[in-house]
Amino acid sequence: MNTKELDKTYVAGTYARFDAVINSGKGSTLYDEDGKEYIDFGSGIAVNTFGASDDVWKQAIIRQLDKIQHTSNLYYNENGAILAEMLCKRTGMKKVFFSNSGAEANECAIKAARKYGTDINPEKNVIITLENSFHGRTITTLSATGQEVFHKNFTPFTEGFLHVPANDCDALFGAISDKTAAIMIETVQGEGGVNVLGEEFLAAIEKITTENDILLIVDEVQTGNGRSGALYSYMKLGLTPDIVSTAKGLAGGLPMGATLLGERVQDTLTAGTHGSTFGANPVCAAAAISNIERLDDEFLAEVTKKSEYLKAELTKINGVKSVSGMGLMLGVETEKPAADIVKECLKKGLLVLTAKTKVRLLPALNITNEELEKGLKILKEVIEK
Ligand SMILES: Cc1ncc(COP(=O)(O)O)c(C=O)c1O
Repeated sequence: MNTKELDKTYVAGTYARFDAVINSGKGSTLYDEDGKEYIDFGSGIAVNTFGASDDVWKQAIIRQLDKIQHTSNLYYNENGAILAEMLCKRTGMKKVFFSNSGAEANECAIKAARKYGTDINPEKNVIITLENSFHGRTITTLSATGQEVFHKNFTPFTEGFLHVPANDCDALFGAISDKTAAIMIETVQGEGGVNVLGEEFLAAIEKITTENDILLIVDEVQTGNGRSGALYSYMKLGLTPDIVSTAKGLAGGLPMGATLLGERVQDTLTAGTHGSTFGANPVCAAAAISNIERLDDEFLAEVTKKSEYLKAELTKINGVKSVSGMGLMLGVETEKPAADIVKECLKKGLLVLTAKTKVRLLPALNITNEELEKGLKILKEVIEK
């Protein structure tokens, strides 16, 4: 059997896959099993921060593989400790819990918020999230996710989540009570359609959470690790979160999640209250250290420049109604259905994604200008056809 047949026969059918077996690549140029070339505007859904098989990233991993691949959290782990220090020094957060995915990073955020709240008052365990949000696929992060479409068939859920409409300050104020432990947001709702939260709404959240004993959790699973043009998007939005969750691009293609804990919650999770076998795996942590080192101010300014260029070029295309997003996380509203555009781009050698009704672009942060031009040319042809 070939790969597609093996997959259809033996892999659980949870993914509606596109018709390509991507086997190799360098940077933002990928190849399928037949050697066909693709420009990659998806980076494995915002994961391959420095593109495919990046040399600096690869060497960091190989150096660690020559030492040891895993030790367990029973012992101190050099890379985990170094990475935690780097993340805290760059963000001002105080401590880090490491896991393996976005959903797990959010599970830790939710547990920390509930423990913080219920240490004050046993009923202070409610977390307010937003309609149209996406926080993961575990039962609890699905409960946090404010989209009915993901809920069907999986009840009963973890209790204690309230969903309010994004950008509706009155609804948010109305939902706050003595039981509110935290407000949890994505600054840009990625899966929900690349919707940027409004300034007024963010200011209201900041005010409520800083003036009351209510925590602010920012889910930076998709927006984090340089994608927004800042190391974490909240850093350029005037927010002071208590908890930041991240994953995807952190280790640039190896599985790693991190939950950054601020001053109020730095000591909330104590020995025995949480854990993860693979958390801070030394190989994944080596990749993340290398990535975070490279995401300096100069590099992030380049991300913003590329974003501005992309936005300007996309807006010029006939058939583009609007462009939303931040940094290299862009949503393109088109006259034609987004799903048709994605399929047509694939045929012509460009990988793009959808987010609800939009075409979503999440290129590697080091995509070259040449690759950007090539990809844009294909996208323009497909949208304008
Ligand atoms: C904002 C956000 N949170 C959480 C997740 C879940 O991450 P993972 O698939 O790594 O569990 C995602 C995944 O798309 C996401 O975009």
